[in-house]
Amino acid sequence: TATKRIAVTPGDGIGPEVVEQAVRCLDVLRERYDLDLEWETFDWPSHRWHQAHGDVMPANALEQLRDFDAILLGALGDPGPITDPNRYLLPDSISLAPLLQMRKGFDQWVCERPARLLPGARQYLADERARDVDMLVIRENSEGEYVAQGGRLRPGSEDEVATQMEVFTRRATNRIIRHGFEQARSRARARQESGQTRQFKTLDGRTCESQVCIITKRNALRYWGDMYTEAFAEIATEYPDVATHHELVDAACMKFVQCPWAFDVVVASNLQGDILTDLAAVLSGGMGVAPSCNLNPDDRSMPSMFEPTHGSAPDIAGQGLADPTAMLFTTARMLTWLAEETGPMQEAAEALHDAVAADLAEHSGRRRKTREIGDAVITRLGQ
Ligand code: IPM
Ligand code: MN
Repeated sequence: TATKRIAVTPGDGIGPEVVEQAVRCLDVLRERYDLDLEWETFDWPSHRWHQAHGDVMPANALEQLRDFDAILLGALGDPGPITDPNRYLLPDSISLAPLLQMRKGFDQWVCERPARLLPGARQYLADERARDVDMLVIRENSEGEYVAQGGRLRPGSEDEVATQMEVFTRRATNRIIRHGFEQARSRARARQESGQTRQFKTLDGRTCESQVCIITKRNALRYWGDMYTEAFAEIATEYPDVATHHELVDAACMKFVQCPWAFDVVVASNLQGDILTDLAAVLSGGMGVAPSCNLNPDDRSMPSMFEPTHGSAPDIAGQGLADPTAMLFTTARMLTWLAEETGPMQEAAEALHDAVAADLAEHSGRRRKTREIGDAVITRLGQ
């Protein structure tokens, strides 16, 4: 098998701080598991780059990244030093553009955001059943509300009109739903292998070991809502072993708080998935622990992108306070993606995941600095 190559893009704010810990872990893992792995760092902090070149990354950035097997990204978004009243302000809509360009350019059409409340992670909900939160939110990552079409008519005037188009295609809808069912099956299989079971009821009273819940707002946004609903019903017939469920997005927000343990796989549109995954991140212990992957499952010749759900957190940047846990879990998922099958890469992925989880369990609730957490995980990797 060929060498796997990773493009490391630390980005802005706390991005470089958490990425540093990820790279230290990769170093140790490469040595220990003799991984055929290399990486190259692309230092493109949007703020500095913009001041020097008028854009937030090189014009040929996507070409530079295209031949890698994966992109490991810290975070993007840099409004400038927030304490400086004369700061050079870089709006989010500009500094975050590369993120959306990468997702689009490399057709990373699925965004997977698992939310599992691991031992040691903070439990925000008082109900003790919230301990059992274990869901995978799958966000459609290629279209929908994020197509960036529309405009402003008569800007600034009393008669201004802003339009923002949403586009949903049957092709993208089918593939994200099918991906949801496949993930539900593989989660059920993994549970069986580890001797766990979960039960979900179907509408006709049968019991299944996994579930897919589709999210829409079909009572108000009826065109794509109806298309999602029909596509879901059609594809569900291919997966009689998976229970199906539908929630309107507003009710889903309520149930994520009221009974999050009742969800398994959740499939949502780009924006609705974005919103639900911030909520899901809190259910799993907060932004500091929530991983995320932007994947192109069809074309492995293009890089998939691995970045935690959290952002660049400019308010705590530069102080070594950021929790690298989410970044490290994300890195473990990247290794699993690169592994494709059993072997040293997969072993390394599991070792990293287990070390981070064990560290979390041991230091439950204690405030630690970024590097301290990195050190502790590395110590575990060496044991
Ligand atoms: C995320 C972020 C991005 C998104 C922003 C930064 C554009 O919120 O990855 O969840 O909306 O997709
Ligand atoms: Mn988001």
